[in-house]
Amino acid sequence: MSVVPNAVAAVDEARQWDRLMQMAKLGAIPGEGVNRACLTDLDRQARRLLIGWAQGIGLTVSVDALGNLFLRHEGTAPGLPPVLTGSHMDSQPNGGRFDGIWGVLAGLEAVQALREAGVATKRPIEVVAWTNEEGGRFAPGCMGSMAYAGFRPADTWDAVTDGEGLTFGDELRKHLALEADIPRRGLGVVEGPAPFAYVECHIEQGPRLERGGLDIGVVEGIQGSRWFLVEIAGRTDHAGTTPLRLRQDAVQDMVRAIAALNVLTHDPDDVLRFTVGRIEVSPNSSNTVADRARFTIDLRHPDKDVLLPRGDAVEATVKAALATCTATVTERFHALPSRFDPMVPDTVERAALAQGLKPLRLSSGAFHDAQFLAPLCPSGMIFVPCRAGVSHHPSEYSSPRQLAAGARVLTAALAALANR
Ligand code: GLV
Ligand code: MN
Ligand code: MN
Repeated sequence: MSVVPNAVAAVDEARQWDRLMQMAKLGAIPGEGVNRACLTDLDRQARRLLIGWAQGIGLTVSVDALGNLFLRHEGTAPGLPPVLTGSHMDSQPNGGRFDGIWGVLAGLEAVQALREAGVATKRPIEVVAWTNEEGGRFAPGCMGSMAYAGFRPADTWDAVTDGEGLTFGDELRKHLALEADIPRRGLGVVEGPAPFAYVECHIEQGPRLERGGLDIGVVEGIQGSRWFLVEIAGRTDHAGTTPLRLRQDAVQDMVRAIAALNVLTHDPDDVLRFTVGRIEVSPNSSNTVADRARFTIDLRHPDKDVLLPRGDAVEATVKAALATCTATVTERFHALPSRFDPMVPDTVERAALAQGLKPLRLSSGAFHDAQFLAPLCPSGMIFVPCRAGVSHHPSEYSSPRQLAAGARVLTAALAALANR
């Protein structure tokens, strides 16, 4: 008789919720939100809290060159590639209490439940907290998982600056020095073998599960994303004296460029997602014509045959729209749509059905670290409903019961995967 049901029963709804609420204090902002950017003191406090819990239940902690943090539950065959589970601990600047952090704490809860129920697994299970998934402080997101997967070299983003001009490279070095007491491990598949499988828990960040009265999203794939940085260069002038026809106004050309991009990305079916989420103007003075405008583009679509040509047209569209200025367009993130190997989604769906939960197969509009694990090993994700589908906002909410259901499905899925 399988002992896995004992582990599922050992998932502790109150313990998981209490840990989430302790984490939510680190970077709390009004409206029950969280602002916990990566590689900050708040991030380090959250990691120390997590490490304390992990060590308290006997997990082995290690960190890699990108700051990805691993909590290892040993298998009875420790030499076998592990099953990996986790997500990220950084948040958006105006973020919520669940995006990312729940996936890490669900992993911890699942492993703790397995251990408390005495369920040994053949393969090790590692809970991972990926560095900088959100890309809110340093763009782009998913740096930790991209480097782990060898998708980009580890030093790719060293010169990327945050809003205060601090570089990712310097901040990462400082961060690793402050975690020098934690054993270092090799960087992902660049310096070691691939994991056996990867499964990531996350709130849905969309309305489908809630609307359908469903419990579990069985994620089959993730849409593709491309990020661009547009930098427009003009010339400063006096706002009161310089005739408009003599100006090189970076803001006016930015407005033209964005209008042209809205035409390029128009989609009557509203599937193509186009967002300008960050704008910087210099010198940012009311009575000076701006000489510099920078804005970001986030472009997403589930079909690469739409995403690739539209994305490839961004630079020419911006340049053709400018009246007086010049522009450079830099692509900073490029994740093709991914479709998961059926092994993990099938395992998740079976676990949900066996627990009497109602699953729905769906794909993810948000990107996740799972996108960069998918080429390495069978991967998948477990979604739980979130209120009104809201995320990247302080009001983001999933109930203790919904989150516990997700952790129970993860527990059974991990047990199944780690005994294959
Ligand atoms: C991740 O947070 C995303 O923007 O999809
Ligand atoms: Mn997330
Ligand atoms: Mn997010």
